[in-house]
Amino acid sequence: MSARTARITKVGVVGGGQMGAGIAEVCARAGVDTIVCEADATAADRARERVAISLERAVQRGKLDRLSAEDALGRLTFTGDLDALADRRLVVEAVVENAGAKTEIFTALDKIVEDPGAILATNTSAIPVMRLGMATHRADHVLGLHFFNPVPVLPLVEVVPSLHTAPATVAAAEEFVTDVLGKTVVRSQDRSGFVVNALLIPYLLSAIRMAESGYATAADVDAGMELGCAHPMGPLKLADLIGLDTVASIAVSLYEEFKEPLYAPPPLLQRMVEAGLLGRKTGRGFHTYD
Ligand code: CAA
Repeated sequence: MSARTARITKVGVVGGGQMGAGIAEVCARAGVDTIVCEADATAADRARERVAISLERAVQRGKLDRLSAEDALGRLTFTGDLDALADRRLVVEAVVENAGAKTEIFTALDKIVEDPGAILATNTSAIPVMRLGMATHRADHVLGLHFFNPVPVLPLVEVVPSLHTAPATVAAAEEFVTDVLGKTVVRSQDRSGFVVNALLIPYLLSAIRMAESGYATAADVDAGMELGCAHPMGPLKLADLIGLDTVASIAVSLYEEFKEPLYAPPPLLQRMVEAGLLGRKTGRGFHTYD
């Protein structure tokens, strides 16, 4: 560990949903003191539960011993108070994929996080990092750190500097991700969707259009890609895992950025979001879940 990453011993995560909880879990498992901030105390309790369940799953799967799981949970604090992040060296924002909500968080973090050298990162999938940096007075310390779901399982993090991000910020963030979290980095320019979602989302949208038009059933679309291409899960199961609201938000951002029809969210996706059929998290999307 270099002198640079040695200083990132206190991390904050804003948002304790599936991504925020996953990011907090990997930080705590890597030995880092981590505070998760949610909207209120009840949501903070739900975030703790989410991490506890995932740690238990890791123990059951033989990926982690019970003592290490307990230690990781002990390194995590869950709160409903953003001011608790004042002493953090790195804060990762992982709230809902909505530009207004994320901008508000960055404006608040700029006032709260005391160390002017601290890094403020966003886990956005498709909102320009520049826009969030400009909501602060320290755009040189703002960058994208984009994790993948499930965070404890998938090894990739996209690192996304904006036009204002300082090279030292990128270097320190990359060292933390690789040396402390043990993940692999790919760098992307600050374009909506970065590398992975710019490729993944048109594929998911094509699968949705295929099911929408009756070309094939959802089950057959998924079986096609699982059995024919050895994907761990088919595109409609994956859309359900990501959350259909998140898929739709990313598609809208990509469409706004590139104006290409392949990024336009199909009507069925929009209707399902309006109906509250968001995938795994609500028990029903293209498939149903217990
Ligand atoms: N900690 C550590 N390891 C864990 C774990 C945890 N909490 N939970 C599960 N694992 C491990 C398991 O031990 C298992 O490892 P082995 O293969 O070495 O045995 C592996 O993860 C798979 O777990 P399961 O057996 O529980 O489940 P599964 O085989 O059904 O796989 C899955 C589930 C990991 C989700 C797999 O289907 C998968 O990888 N799907 C694709 C996910 C994907 O593409 N995600 C990207 C989404 S895009 C995104 O996130 C970005 C965005 O912006 C939208």
